[in-house]
Amino acid sequence: MRRVALVMLLAAAQGASAQGDAKRGAYLAKAAGCLGCHTETKQEAMPYAGGRALKTPFGTFYGPNLTPHPSAGLGRWSEADFVRALRLGLRPDGAHYFPAFPYPSFARISDADLRDLWAYLRTLPSSARPNQAHELRFPFGWRFLVAGWKWLFFSPGALIAEPKRSPSLDRGAYLVEALGHCGECHTARNFLGGPKRERQLAGAAKGPDGDRVPNLTPTKLKKWNDGELKSFLQTGLTPDGDVAAETMGEVIRNTTAELTPNDLAALIAYLRALPAIADEPN
Ligand code: HEC
Ligand code: HEC
Repeated sequence: MRRVALVMLLAAAQGASAQGDAKRGAYLAKAAGCLGCHTETKQEAMPYAGGRALKTPFGTFYGPNLTPHPSAGLGRWSEADFVRALRLGLRPDGAHYFPAFPYPSFARISDADLRDLWAYLRTLPSSARPNQAHELRFPFGWRFLVAGWKWLFFSPGALIAEPKRSPSLDRGAYLVEALGHCGECHTARNFLGGPKRERQLAGAAKGPDGDRVPNLTPTKLKKWNDGELKSFLQTGLTPDGDVAAETMGEVIRNTTAELTPNDLAALIAYLRALPAIADEPN
């Protein structure tokens, strides 16, 4: 009897060690801004229960329910399903996700971090809120067309470590390009919605909601010193006392304001080290 209990205990301990760390996952979810797109904007909205409307030139997407509810959320998913969704943009049944879900950036997240994110999502209170169908303009609602988009614009795989880069700059690159998905708004897109890779983080005349998104590369990023930039990314206030527009304001509240001092410093150092690119003509 004792022996059986011991074996079970050992098995449980092994299971636990193979599982991700939910506490780390909670921090990573902030660094990746998962909350905003997966939570309604109303006051009493349940976190991660889905229903957030995301307006894009292709129509309105609704972030789905990520809580562990067995039918409304991800209750029946395995960790492997989750990894495939973020790495390859594939649904458990093999259909393609629309890139309004920024998996082209999340594909760069490390294996260990994906595990921790998954462990965190498993700890969320369950919500029965049903998912809403996206309202997309013809023909963008056809999921199979996403296969063509991915063929053109999506390259799965981890972030390539640059041999000459310091660990802090590598961390900054990871926070900006993988978790923070800053380029999803700050990199201009072509008419098919594919990012213009040669204009990485150099701003967009028309961002996701049609407004201009500023160029983050050196010389074009506002003439703020590191302290001013840091304070903007923590509070949303500019040195002249202006408030960031809401699109960025939300990124600041949910993401950059939540970063540890070391991570925020690494993120800023990475922006400073980007190649300078001129603004896109209007
Ligand atoms: C910019 C908005 C946005 C952000 C940020 C975002 N998501 Fe999503 N996510 C979406 C949208 C939109 C979909 C639905 C895509 C579709 O239907 O093809 C989605 C779908 C998903 C799915 C598939 C759910 C299902 O029911 O099939 C998972 C899992 C997911 N997101 C996890 C995450 C995680 C984890 C993060 C943070 C690391 C995150 N998302 C950040 C917009 C976002
Ligand atoms: C959902 C779209 C979106 C995402 C994602 C996003 N931004 Fe922004 N960002 C904006 C918009 C829009 C503005 C302009 C705000 C304004 O004019 O008040 C902006 C402004 C900024 C500015 C001020 C630059 C200037 O010259 O005025 C900085 C710095 C910045 N973003 C950094 C980031 C970083 C770092 C990330 C990733 C962690 C990020 N942004 C992710 C939309 C976005």
